[in-house]
Amino acid sequence: MTVTPETHRRVDARAAAAGRTTARTLRDVFGWSRPFEASLLPPPMLELARAAAVLAGDGPLFRSKVRFSSIGGRIFAHSAYPTLAADAVFFGPDTYRYCDLVVDEATFDGRRAKRVVDVGCGSGAGGIVASTHAERVVLADINGAALALSTANAALAGIEDRVEIVESDVLRGVDGPIDLVIANPPYMVDPASRAYRDGGGSFGEALAVRIAREALERLEPGGRLVLYTGAAVVDGVDTFLRAVREVCIEARADWRYREIDPDVFGEEIEQNDAYAAVERIAAVALVATRPAG
Ligand SMILES: C[S@@+](CC[C@H](N)C(=O)[O-])C[C@H]1O[C@@H](n2cnc3c(N)ncnc32)[C@H](O)[C@@H]1O
Repeated sequence: MTVTPETHRRVDARAAAAGRTTARTLRDVFGWSRPFEASLLPPPMLELARAAAVLAGDGPLFRSKVRFSSIGGRIFAHSAYPTLAADAVFFGPDTYRYCDLVVDEATFDGRRAKRVVDVGCGSGAGGIVASTHAERVVLADINGAALALSTANAALAGIEDRVEIVESDVLRGVDGPIDLVIANPPYMVDPASRAYRDGGGSFGEALAVRIAREALERLEPGGRLVLYTGAAVVDGVDTFLRAVREVCIEARADWRYREIDPDVFGEEIEQNDAYAAVERIAAVALVATRPAG
């Protein structure tokens, strides 16, 4: 289970205060991203990790460059903590909420989708979870490191024969018909401009609005968009809803919108100047269907 970076930092600080900075268990190595002695890993595991080039030296110790998390019995590799690198592959509490939404909304009145695209797939978790409800799955991202881990995660899930891995800016690199688009795009204002975090626009909403617009233009008639994102609320006004409503109306889509969690990333309001006027950031769901004819 991956916690927020802030919770991870607190748990680490507590372990350090108790003198436990080096890993003692495989959970410490592949969950808490702690430095470890080579002898902690069974030799075949150490060899595989070396062959996959996922080990980094840390003085006399090693660190794993990947972590593993599970959702619904499946296991996903993603970047180790802290995810400071520009090409870090995201997985976090948003991923669990996103995957729950995908499971709730992916079926078309009980029908399986023919071809689902997970835009900004990261580790591929959303698309791989959606594979239960779709014949084919496209995992698309602009980050090559995300595509490499998505390839591995699709193989771990045993669905590699039904998956396409595509480097794509939103849907631009994806050819062919699509009847389901799912996405959990970046939705923050990130001063470090990391691809997994920086959504652009005044409050991080720009990429999510663009995904809604391009998906509703591109989906097959009757096709569906399931979008999970964060919405900055200013003076009681949901700024993402204000922008995306226009897109849905223009596309004549049948759409529903709801808050999943009223208050996420509360610390950003204090720490990030871009949020000076923001009261809260809500996790929200947009489900929009393109007109059938
Ligand atoms: C918050 S992460 C979510 C990853 C994954 N969907 C999940 O829920 O765990 C956002 C992802 O969107 C990708 N991304 C950012 N801009 C993009 C763009 N223009 N087109 C496609 N993917 C993009 C990032 O590289 C990152 O993997």
